[in-house]
Amino acid sequence: MKKVILSVAGIALAASMGSAVAGDIAAGQAKSATCIACHGANGVTNATFAGMGYPNLAGQNAKYIEAQLKAFKAGQRTGGMSAVMAPMAAPLTDADIANLAAYYESLK
Ligand code: HEC
Repeated sequence: MKKVILSVAGIALAASMGSAVAGDIAAGQAKSATCIACHGANGVTNATFAGMGYPNLAGQNAKYIEAQLKAFKAGQRTGGMSAVMAPMAAPLTDADIANLAAYYESLK
């Protein structure tokens, strides 16, 4: 249910802001080369890390992914395994983040 509400909110937000905020899926896929080692080629966590706190990204809401990447980058998301992920988010630009978010949301 929470996921449904998030999606509806995401669609409403995207609609109200126009297509300018939508990420480029192809550019996101190209940028995802560095994410594959942990989050898998299709956004499903690499089997090596199963059960170790490495989340799947496939089909996750783009606004959520974007918010998390910005929080890791800003040092606002801490605890858990954030020390592993924060350095990955650090070099990403806002455009990279929007593209990656659109790409992972598009995966099933
Ligand atoms: C070295 C392994 C590793 C790499 C490479 C990596 N991640 Fe992560 N990622 C993690 C871990 C571990 C977490 C969980 C962090 C935590 O516990 O807060 C995570 C969490 C995330 C989250 C939050 C998911 C959620 O459900 O809250 C997103 C989004 C994310 N990663 C995106 C990416 C993207 C995009 C890339 C490539 C630019 C990437 N990651 C590269 C290990 C990695």
